[in-house]
Amino acid sequence: MDATKEGRKHNLPIVDLKAQYESLRDEITSAIAGVLEMQHFILGPNVAALEREIAELCSSQFAVGVASGTDALILALRAAGVGIGDEVIVPAFSFVATADAVSILGAVPVFADIDPLTFNINATHAATLVTDRTRAIIPVHLYGQSADMDEISALASRHRLIVIEDCAQALGATWKDRPTCSHGDYGCISFFPSKNLGAYGDGGMITVRSAQEAASLKMLRSHGSARKYHSDVQGMNSRLDELQAAILRVKLPHLRDWNERRRHVAAMYREALGQLEEVTLPFESSNVRHVYHQFTIRVARRDEVQKALFASGIQTFVYYPVPLHLQPMYAHLDYKRGDLPTSENAAKEALSLPMFPEMTEEDVMRVAGCLRECLAAPVV
Ligand SMILES: Cc1ncc(COP(=O)(O)O)c(C=O)c1O
Repeated sequence: MDATKEGRKHNLPIVDLKAQYESLRDEITSAIAGVLEMQHFILGPNVAALEREIAELCSSQFAVGVASGTDALILALRAAGVGIGDEVIVPAFSFVATADAVSILGAVPVFADIDPLTFNINATHAATLVTDRTRAIIPVHLYGQSADMDEISALASRHRLIVIEDCAQALGATWKDRPTCSHGDYGCISFFPSKNLGAYGDGGMITVRSAQEAASLKMLRSHGSARKYHSDVQGMNSRLDELQAAILRVKLPHLRDWNERRRHVAAMYREALGQLEEVTLPFESSNVRHVYHQFTIRVARRDEVQKALFASGIQTFVYYPVPLHLQPMYAHLDYKRGDLPTSENAAKEALSLPMFPEMTEEDVMRVAGCLRECLAAPVV
């Protein structure tokens, strides 16, 4: 048994990056050495090649590498012309970056509730939030499952809203057989290390349809300049670095298989947990190819279950314990507890179990056995 599998017998992490690294160690080492030999660290050939490869994966015309998924959202909003006082509709149940990309530009995040089955934005509720200041909507494909892009696109075209897909957790997923990132005006990707395609540091990318938009994003990521030392617009320094791009290019050819493995692990979980009455398994819409960035169950005794799993050496996470409208940073927006009940319930009940492509049946059975045992115990 290899070292990482042996280690997992004791402590099962929610994601095991070491297992993936061990399978690619030599290729990654030589990709890094290649960049060091070339001494081209900023916007070199690996960034350009990765931009083409990701655009192709996402059936998009162009892709622009940036420093993180958060910057991808900020720059997409900037490119779309969103600024001070504009309103942008975002789901209340997401990672905070989805909303703070909006507020950092002086625009106002307007929080929509979510669908209880998919955890994704509820387009019917979002429709009630549109005002004459609404400029954009950001559907998040949470946990690896696409939001309903038919409903979002219909809403956006009714009100002429810009659609910015937050694809941070869903690279390789599809909505009606078309990749996430290809439905909206902009697709924002994160290469945070634990993502389905993860760098060894921060990184991100934005997909767009036109050469003009790609050029404008390239200016924005480099101090607003198309020509060195000539800045035409306010920009920033937000570039995907060459070392990260070289590493990501080693990993990218494996993404399809890794996502398939995640789907297989999800199927094993479904089989093993199906009989547990107290557990609600993740819902998978028939319109999507879910890539299970997370396998997130709902369980009413969530905190108790999490403690019991932890005591047995199984790591789980709560994504996310506080919905965005109740975050202290948005207290000035005057939301109250009870305003967005489905998001608030999700924050109380969601529990993400270990999920990574290298998980074995034994790992899954161990989580299932532990859950079964703890749910059979009386409520404490
Ligand atoms: C839904 C969502 N949006 C945005 C981000 C931000 O990405 P990054 O951490 O690369 O800035 C993340 C990642 O953590 C995310 O999960």
